[in-house]
Amino acid sequence: MKDTVIILGSSRSDGDTAKAVFKMQDITGCDYIDLNDYDISYYDYEHENKIDDFLPLMKRVIQDYQNIIVATPVYWYTMSGILKVFFDRVSDLLTIEKDLGRQLRGKGFGVISCCINSGVDKEFWHPFEKTSGYLGMPYLGNVHINSLENDALFTGFIKEIEAKE
Ligand SMILES: Cc1cc2nc3c(=O)[nH]c(=O)nc-3n(C[C@H](O)[C@H](O)[C@H](O)COP(=O)(O)O)c2cc1C
Repeated sequence: MKDTVIILGSSRSDGDTAKAVFKMQDITGCDYIDLNDYDISYYDYEHENKIDDFLPLMKRVIQDYQNIIVATPVYWYTMSGILKVFFDRVSDLLTIEKDLGRQLRGKGFGVISCCINSGVDKEFWHPFEKTSGYLGMPYLGNVHINSLENDALFTGFIKEIEAKE
């Protein structure tokens, strides 16, 4: 998985989703970014928050990586709040930073979800699939991790991504 970054969006930097991300990092050597380390505020129609950490973070991600994978726990049947706020801010790339937003086109996009249940409903993936389509980012796939011991979950996902690289 060359040029891949995992963006971790969990309320715990050392929780279950983080552990899945660390395992992916161990296996593949990919980088990860923890959204808890950044000050990213809710989407603002007036863009008065454009000086927070979102735009510098995205400039770095877009410059340095070809594949972007987001990792989220399942919170109330959907993605975490911290990841949703990050997604909302992607709207900045369609409004005040269009040149940057255009550079997302062609980059791969994938998803890791995490909770103790063995799977999520197919609807869980819907916002991710639709968002990647809207942004022109080929969908690399998704994986639901419910056990760090189940290596097949990780290796299957990695193979799926590598096949599309
Ligand atoms: C606010 C909140 C909402 C949750 N909602 C769900 C849920 O809808 N379905 C589920 O299976 N687990 C749910 N869980 C359990 C978490 O998905 C599970 O504990 C996960 O492994 C936590 O990952 P984390 O350590 O990265 O936060 C929820 C946990 C929290 C804190």
